Amino acid sequence: MLGIETSCDETAASVVTQDRRILSNAVFSQFEDHAVHGGVVPEIAARAHLNAINRVVDAAIKEAGIGWNDLTGIAATAGPGLIGGVMVGLMTGKALAAYLNKPFIGVNHLEGHALTPRLSHNVAFPYMLLLVSGGHTQILLAEDVGQYRLLGTTIDDAAGECFDKSAKLLGLPQPGGPALEALARQCTDVPAAIKRFAFTRPLIGRKDCNFSFSGLKTAMRERIEALTSEGNIKADDASQLAAALQSIIAAHLSDRCARALESCNVKPTALVTAGGVASNTAVRSALEAVAAKHKLPFMAPPSALCTDNGAMIAWAGIERLQKGWIDGLDVPARPRWPLDPKTARIPA
Ligand code: KG4
Ligand code: ZN
Repeated sequence: MLGIETSCDETAASVVTQDRRILSNAVFSQFEDHAVHGGVVPEIAARAHLNAINRVVDAAIKEAGIGWNDLTGIAATAGPGLIGGVMVGLMTGKALAAYLNKPFIGVNHLEGHALTPRLSHNVAFPYMLLLVSGGHTQILLAEDVGQYRLLGTTIDDAAGECFDKSAKLLGLPQPGGPALEALARQCTDVPAAIKRFAFTRPLIGRKDCNFSFSGLKTAMRERIEALTSEGNIKADDASQLAAALQSIIAAHLSDRCARALESCNVKPTALVTAGGVASNTAVRSALEAVAAKHKLPFMAPPSALCTDNGAMIAWAGIERLQKGWIDGLDVPARPRWPLDPKTARIPA
């Protein structure tokens, strides 16, 4: 199965087999195109996808060492995401499927993330999933392919946004999450950093499983302003601040997952995480501790499969094809597409 992903700032294509072998995983990142603007510019992203798509798809096929006709199908992200980019990947996928006369599957990007732990770890349904990316922060009970029960979501920003914006305030390059994690790693005394900057955990005491990150972003800005009032921020201060923020984000994410596990009426097979922020080691360890407390295995895909990639789209295509869910070439590109049972399948 060929998977094509173009919903944000990565042009990606990958060939994956039904027995979970990733034969190729070509990713072309546009970070440099957007760097001067301090964030992803949709129009620039769409053009960059158009420039890169043929090259990236070709690379995925060549690297896999297969011929076009060996493919069992073509899967492409149909949303949610920046619509210009989504259209580039979707049209490419449809054109290839039409020309090669292969089944076409329009994949929900979020389902791509959600099913990745089945590609990497063969985790069985139902599993408790923390989906944390640049645009989404959700807790879902993954019941089956195309069947997700939403247990909690962010009431304002996504966790990835909090990482990215805080990194920007610290003068770090984008994407901010990995840069902030690298800075936090330089902090030699994390407990002292946590005590010093005293971030409060969002939504403390709230009984639901929702998230909030906008308050943390503001708190971060205030602490940076206080530190810079006397000149440039010192390297030690910056690394302590990054470590303190990272640990409060990890604590907030894991606390909400603990609540979801306590309140869910179904016993999941595992606690699982996916999406860009899931590659963060502090987040992973906090979740691992929650899973251990609930006597559940914890699973997270390798970092390269957490951030946007084509393999997750190919794998979602494989799982949907196995259910016999083939889409027509009239599948629309969707800027918004919530991952819940009512809308997870595109109506024919
Ligand atoms: O899943 P993804 O690649 O794209 C979206 O679908 O949004 O997630 C990107 C987000 C960005 O906000 C990025 O900063 C964050 O994931 N991220 C991280 C790390 N790696 C990527 N956040 C924290 N720590 C990381 N190591
Ligand atoms: Zn993503």
